[in-house]
Amino acid sequence: TFTPRVFSGIQPSGNLHLGNYLGAIKRFVDMQGQGIETVYCMVDLHAITVWQDPADLTRSTRELCAGFIASGIDPEQSILINQSQVPEHAQLAWVFNCVARMGWMQRMTQFKDKAGKNAQNASLGLLAYPSLMAADILIYHATHVPVGEDQKQHLELTRDIAAKFNHDYGVDFFPLTEPVIEGAATRVMSLRDGARKMSKSDPSDMSRINMTDDADTIAKKIRKAKTDPEPLPSEAAGLEDRPEARNLVSIYAALTDSDADTVLAEMGGRQFSEFKPMLAEIAVEKLAPISAEMARLMADPAEIDRILTRGAQRAREITAPILRRTYDIVGM
Ligand code: ADP
Ligand code: NA
Repeated sequence: TFTPRVFSGIQPSGNLHLGNYLGAIKRFVDMQGQGIETVYCMVDLHAITVWQDPADLTRSTRELCAGFIASGIDPEQSILINQSQVPEHAQLAWVFNCVARMGWMQRMTQFKDKAGKNAQNASLGLLAYPSLMAADILIYHATHVPVGEDQKQHLELTRDIAAKFNHDYGVDFFPLTEPVIEGAATRVMSLRDGARKMSKSDPSDMSRINMTDDADTIAKKIRKAKTDPEPLPSEAAGLEDRPEARNLVSIYAALTDSDADTVLAEMGGRQFSEFKPMLAEIAVEKLAPISAEMARLMADPAEIDRILTRGAQRAREITAPILRRTYDIVGM
């Protein structure tokens, strides 16, 4: 049996957005202080699977660290790290590259989406991404991973890799990690297209609310968000075939720590012209203090770097022995 431990990560690829906040960071904060060790990671090695300008990557890594702390991640309570500073992640990933099968990687929908039509021209790292993600999680023997719905398939692959390693070497060394996908906003959609998820890589800035957007920008993006002409229904079942309406209600519910039925019991019958300003107000109320605190932290990059150096030292107390035992099992 494995001691419960939480791990999760976010790519420092710029444009940290409301989907990352509601689907991931806000829930990371909720998992702190429940007597379970929590490890939160900026996954820069994942970010470079697609081209990143070096100066932007450095800045985005610090900005993401500031975003974590400003949102309520306490670097004393949690272990807060940047992936490339804890070399055991990449070292275990190599072992997993030799356990996992090519076909497993080629089946991943995120690979197919990101590689596009010309998959032969995608980086080898983009294909191997889920193997590194498995290593991120399993180098801590993490038992629980809070993520958005988009990561479900990668978590299944993590379990497949752990199971195959355990089977191939006749050990019970890696846990079969559980995804924790819950809450009102596990899949925040684009404000411009209810069929696409809100994403850092969407070329349209109007599609997402960035955590650093000011109040006017947030209000404008919500005002212009795509909707339908019907008023809000009085219960969640009425959102069935209305993806844009459902998205805005889900965002409202998540921001107020509520659920769609509770929100609609109050808001049912209102037009979007009335609901959107209410949503904008609550979004600004929740995000403005975070972005102000991010700006304050970003003014002292050396302090952010110190926090990450300290986090890496603490992390390696866990990762170095687990890598050592892995190598022993493999015969190295
Ligand atoms: P992105 O997909 O925007 O590049 P990442 O891949 O770095 O973001 O994902 C970081 C975390 O944020 C993951 O837990 C992921 O599931 C979550 N996440 C990303 N986009 C969304 C979204 N639109 N809705 C809910 N959660 C999301
Ligand atoms: Na993602």
